[in-house]
Amino acid sequence: MSETITLLGLESSCDDTAAAVVRLSGDRGEILSSVVTGQTALHAAFGGVVPEIAARAHVEKIDLCVEAALEQAGLGLSDLDGIAVTAGPGLIGGVLAGVMCAKGLSAATGLPLIGVNHLAGHALTPRLTDGLRFPYLVLLVSGGHCQFLIAQAPDRFTRLGGTIDDAPGEAFDKTAKLLGLPQPGGPAVEAEARDGDPKRFGFPRPLLDRPGADMSFSGLKTALLRARDQVVAEKGGLTVRDRADLCAGFQAAVADVLAEKSRRAITDYLALAPAEPVLAVAGGVAANDAIRAGIEEVCHAAGLRFVAPPLALCTDNAAMIAWAGIERLRLGLVDGLDLVARPRWPLDLSQPALVGSGKKGAKA
Ligand code: KG4
Ligand code: ZN
Repeated sequence: MSETITLLGLESSCDDTAAAVVRLSGDRGEILSSVVTGQTALHAAFGGVVPEIAARAHVEKIDLCVEAALEQAGLGLSDLDGIAVTAGPGLIGGVLAGVMCAKGLSAATGLPLIGVNHLAGHALTPRLTDGLRFPYLVLLVSGGHCQFLIAQAPDRFTRLGGTIDDAPGEAFDKTAKLLGLPQPGGPAVEAEARDGDPKRFGFPRPLLDRPGADMSFSGLKTALLRARDQVVAEKGGLTVRDRADLCAGFQAAVADVLAEKSRRAITDYLALAPAEPVLAVAGGVAANDAIRAGIEEVCHAAGLRFVAPPLALCTDNAAMIAWAGIERLRLGLVDGLDLVARPRWPLDLSQPALVGSGKKGAKA
């Protein structure tokens, strides 16, 4: 008899309020619904996510997202086998909003409550979309995260390296801001970079001179600021070409760093002699063609399969939380009503915590 598990997942750790219903039948996961309500407009005037505003918006929206997710799935609470919720890491007010909603649902229905690490949600997504087998290598690369993890089991991850300051998406967003481009900065910078000369400004490749897979992106942003100011001082302003060259140079530096650090992480991962070597990427920055191409090339050279889940499942969503909840429930990992919301929650407790937190909260 094949196993069927249906979970509701909730996500509210940053600036997306989300609810989803995911079902496992046999060994196949299926997303029955996935509702994501963003908050971009609420934060637009502030140039970044304002935690208090985010928390209040989550409280207002989370019930509505749950209702919509159940309705779209054509299910009621009595059809569920459990409630999974992001319990961290993230902006604590938002995480609390989700955890309190999930506790209320669990207390009212008697359904098991499963607290999920948001990063584990991202890292386990390729099992939902592509049925990956453990162990696989995953690069989380977004506005709030940047780390290489070996996924060994649903509750076991080894961190090979990560950013010690900004996440790459955050650096793209700041670059866009410095050049007067719209937010989110990634797509805007990528579009400008298409016509630019990546070699004109010799931007640094931070931390390539150090062994290992740790990364740093905040210095790149400072280098870009200096280059911009120098051009402005010389010419009195930026031409279209100057801006394109600055974007192309910045993007090439990020792509080079991510490609080289991927190569190093792959070497460590291959030491485990995985039966089906794979590198999976998750996060909004994985949408960048140049960055993706660089990592794909490294995978190809090392004989790894490259997997990128569809973008809607790479960026923040609740289907990944429901799926991670299913994986935990199968292992009997269930929480009580004393589940705690955590601003920081490293996936790999054996590694020292990474320094730095940016606009998108803790990177853990
Ligand atoms: O995963 P995501 O939607 O949200 C979190 O950060 O959790 O990622 C959003 C980030 C933003 O910083 C955005 O600028 C960046 O991903 N991004 C990109 C591109 N598309 C989105 N960065 C570079 N190139 C892109 N095409
Ligand atoms: Zn995320």
